[in-house]
Amino acid sequence: MDDEHRTIFQATGELQNALHNDAPLFEVQEILHRLISIVEDHFAHEEKLMRGAHYASFDWHRQQHNTARKRLRRYAPLIEAGDHQAGTELTEFLTGWLEDHTSVTDRMLGAHLRNQERSFIR
Ligand SMILES: [Fe+2]
Repeated sequence: MDDEHRTIFQATGELQNALHNDAPLFEVQEILHRLISIVEDHFAHEEKLMRGAHYASFDWHRQQHNTARKRLRRYAPLIEAGDHQAGTELTEFLTGWLEDHTSVTDRMLGAHLRNQERSFIR
């Protein structure tokens, strides 16, 4: 899970740099597509784990994913079309969201999953 977070942080940073350096649009689009697909895969992965573990805070956790999904859906077409400002806003949003989400929400899930593993006593 931590590796997945790292790749999301990295891709967000890449997008930020590309925008900052006025990279060609196709490059920005390539990074954006990659970012969206790793975020979607990561959310799907976590949600599958939560379902499997009958995680009590599933709805709360998924709501936070949905906030990010909504933001990505709204901003992606603008960025695709070359809206620089939208790109900057999205990377700022994602940076803050990721910090909050990984520092609290994902850690709680990690602790839950680890505890569940430890509770299996032969
Ligand atoms: Fe999560």
